[in-house]
Amino acid sequence: MPGFTLTSTLPKDIAADVLIVNTTPAKGKGVELVAHGFTPAQTKRIEAEIAELGGTGKNGEVIKCASGTGIKAPVLVAVGLGDFRKSFDLEQFRRAIGNGVRTLSGTKKVAISGGHSAEHVDATVLACALAAYTFTEYKSKPAASGVGSFVISIPTQINADMKKALAAAKHVASSIYLARNLINTPPNDLAPAHLAQAAKTALASLPVTVKVWDEKALKTAGCGGILGVGLGSSRPPRLIKMTYAPRGAKAHLSLIGKGITFDTGGISIKPASKMDEMKADMSGSAAVIAAVTAIAQLGLKVKVTGWVAAAENMPSGTAQRPGDILTTFDGTTVEVLNTDAEGRLVLADAIGMSVLEKPDLMIDIATLTGAQRIALGRRIAGVMSNTQSAREQVVAASALAGEEMWGMPLPADLRETLKSETADIANIGDGLAGMLSAGVFLQEFVPDSQAWVHIDVAGPAYNDSAPFGYTPKGGTGAGVRTFVQIARELSA
Ligand code: BES
Ligand code: ZN
Ligand code: ZN
Repeated sequence: MPGFTLTSTLPKDIAADVLIVNTTPAKGKGVELVAHGFTPAQTKRIEAEIAELGGTGKNGEVIKCASGTGIKAPVLVAVGLGDFRKSFDLEQFRRAIGNGVRTLSGTKKVAISGGHSAEHVDATVLACALAAYTFTEYKSKPAASGVGSFVISIPTQINADMKKALAAAKHVASSIYLARNLINTPPNDLAPAHLAQAAKTALASLPVTVKVWDEKALKTAGCGGILGVGLGSSRPPRLIKMTYAPRGAKAHLSLIGKGITFDTGGISIKPASKMDEMKADMSGSAAVIAAVTAIAQLGLKVKVTGWVAAAENMPSGTAQRPGDILTTFDGTTVEVLNTDAEGRLVLADAIGMSVLEKPDLMIDIATLTGAQRIALGRRIAGVMSNTQSAREQVVAASALAGEEMWGMPLPADLRETLKSETADIANIGDGLAGMLSAGVFLQEFVPDSQAWVHIDVAGPAYNDSAPFGYTPKGGTGAGVRTFVQIARELSA
């Protein structure tokens, strides 16, 4: 993580390698600089320079130019906000900053002209930190990457709320770094036991207890779903429970993550093309571990129980077969008609365990279906629930947090398609509405009285396309900010 400081030094007087400023389309022609502390002459010169280079101030635009006399940083990066006076939302701002910061990999010190509210500080820190992320762990000769530090220039007096916002945003950003690192780690180095160790390490200095079920304990507990999926791998499955129970907790939130450390499909094996991306099939669990970390670091007054159902889905002589019937934690028998629909099997056990605690709100997050990507694409997660208000709460929280999620139904008639001749339920439907069908399967393990939300992040969890805004290629950390937002709401 880069360092962050707030300063009242004017942007032009900060000794940095680069200064980021904002632009917007000017009223007439050209571009208008949105930054404080420049002299009228400097402003005029910079605006002319940016316009000369083709800058219009439109949203997403990034123009680099020499800064000229009287400005300490030699290079200016002008990021277009678009016509923010007409319509402005923080996410538009975060993405604009992110586009600029992504061009600065390898820069030591970046100054940025900030706003005058705590909310603005939060948005600036998150956008800068998330955009500066790189994953070079496995490069033997890594090029200079990331950004050393950011100095945020505040036009007004720096108040306590801004300082608090800075500290909080750093916690959230570093937990998203943790999620991204876990997702990007190659699957040879991230088996279920490694994931459990990673959770322990991340939470070691925080008031969170971590309990891990190994394969023996899973057998005793009756977790047939997790065990069944893990059968094919020489690296056995784990169930991880993280409990953060601060004094004065206002509510109990349960977060449950799919932690398939690699999904080959098992005996119902996937095609070779892009199978490497299935190292990201533990993204839901990465989001849960990261969210618990952030919430504990923030000291939010809400009890949070994080569950991670971790297994490696491999084909082998010991793997489960299509046609196998397993028994989940709550005693439900499931006919495994397709071993590639494994996420719902491991989640069934974790959901069953979580239900016993009767949390106020239970949310699972999973890279569950290819159908999610077909329905909503790479950037928007699907949100399903047995409780309309809970679904709306999660979607609203995601919007506030700057994550894109969209409500989807759980049609009761789909239960028919999951009928099994021989067991209580089959693990696949008829092939239509695959995202919803998976949701309806999970609902089987949730009593109607338990408020439960299912988030399918198959698309947004892993960016296999070009970077955009503050989102790099690879693991994104999707879900973390929404969970922190919900925890904030529940603790208020
Ligand atoms: N992990 C996959 C879903 C996935 C696909 C995530 C692509 C991210 C990108 C999941 O385990 C899976 O394979 N689901 C099957 C279910 C089907 C067999 C009912 C799918 O979506 O094809
Ligand atoms: Zn699968
Ligand atoms: Zn999977």
